[in-house]
Amino acid sequence: MCSDIQHTELINMERLNSFRHLNQKWSNGEHSNELLHAQAHIWNHIFSFINSMSLKSAIQLGIPDIINKHGYPMTLSELTSALPIHPTKSHSVYRLMRILVHSGFFAKKKLSKTDEEGYTLTDASQLLLKDHPLSLTPFLTAMLDPVLTKPWNYLSTWFQNDDPTPFDTAHGMTFWDYGNHQPSIAHFFNDAMASDARLVTSVIIDDCKGVFEGLESLVDVGGGTGTVAKAIADAFPHIECTVLDLPHVVADLQGSKNLKYTGGDMFEAVPPADTVLLKWILHDWNDEECVKILKRSREAITSKDKNGKVIIIDMMMENQKGDEESIETQLFFDMLMMALVTGKERNEKEWAKLFTDAGFSDYKITPILGLRSLIEVYP
Ligand SMILES: C[S@@+](CC[C@H](N)C(=O)[O-])C[C@H]1O[C@@H](n2cnc3c(N)ncnc32)[C@H](O)[C@@H]1O
Repeated sequence: MCSDIQHTELINMERLNSFRHLNQKWSNGEHSNELLHAQAHIWNHIFSFINSMSLKSAIQLGIPDIINKHGYPMTLSELTSALPIHPTKSHSVYRLMRILVHSGFFAKKKLSKTDEEGYTLTDASQLLLKDHPLSLTPFLTAMLDPVLTKPWNYLSTWFQNDDPTPFDTAHGMTFWDYGNHQPSIAHFFNDAMASDARLVTSVIIDDCKGVFEGLESLVDVGGGTGTVAKAIADAFPHIECTVLDLPHVVADLQGSKNLKYTGGDMFEAVPPADTVLLKWILHDWNDEECVKILKRSREAITSKDKNGKVIIIDMMMENQKGDEESIETQLFFDMLMMALVTGKERNEKEWAKLFTDAGFSDYKITPILGLRSLIEVYP
């Protein structure tokens, strides 16, 4: 047995030796490429947030809409004079545009009449136009709001305390309670969800008609301000649609002929319907909470035939077809669920376990929504 002092000395000597070894490798020039590559990798990760923040500032300055309104490739001087900026900042615009061209949000095109180049939109910046029916701008604005970015500064603190989420550590309450106390943030968030709902709905109504055919009633649990339910109610006028959400979310919302809003708690009860829709709900909650929501949903199902089901729209992790960027996006979402709420993104095995634990007998996955899937779950 060695003493504590001897033990510490031993550890220090080992550290010194491995440091000498690395130094020798690198000073030989043998591994200088690896060293520089490692340094660049670290720098790239330290500064990844600059991509998000540059994009956020472009949206706040209205750059995509200004270029779109211009109608043809917009030169730097045209863009600079159209921007709502202080004259002393004019010479910095090209630097912001340069990084956004690099990250794929704008492209450069030769003008037909001169040799000059102008900026144009890409598919990604088209989707950030304010008036695009499927605009992701509300989602970007909400996710990059300081209220939602603050919890990331508390991630390691949260790992060392017993708070349920880094959001709780940063703000002293759950994400859902915060929305109740700060209506402006709830508004922001609901707009963000609605913008996503518009995009998803346009795909499922066009490509998954069969999923809704034959249904007489549907309840959208945690349906927010009702974007999805409204679209289903319009596309399938014979389906009676109900949106269940927290009382403060649905308080001032008006239903229509075949759409109604109900304030309540999905952990307590879900209104009866042929089919229960859970879009972007279960990834917000941990396994135990998900089983409760699924059990309440199962109890709500009135139809005894194939229309009696739960439809889930959520991510399927470890999707074999995923390219590098999609895998990273899914990992980002999983971390987001850890930072803001008690949920997570799940692979098929984890989903199947939730369904069995909640008493369901079978499920069918349709990977139709890019990074997300439509999952039908049968009692
Ligand atoms: C991530 S959002 C999804 C909204 C919508 N389904 C969509 O995808 O656009 C989660 C929704 O669940 C609602 N919610 C949270 N806790 C709830 C509860 N206990 N009962 C009912 N709804 C709840 C929130 O208010 C919010 O609208």
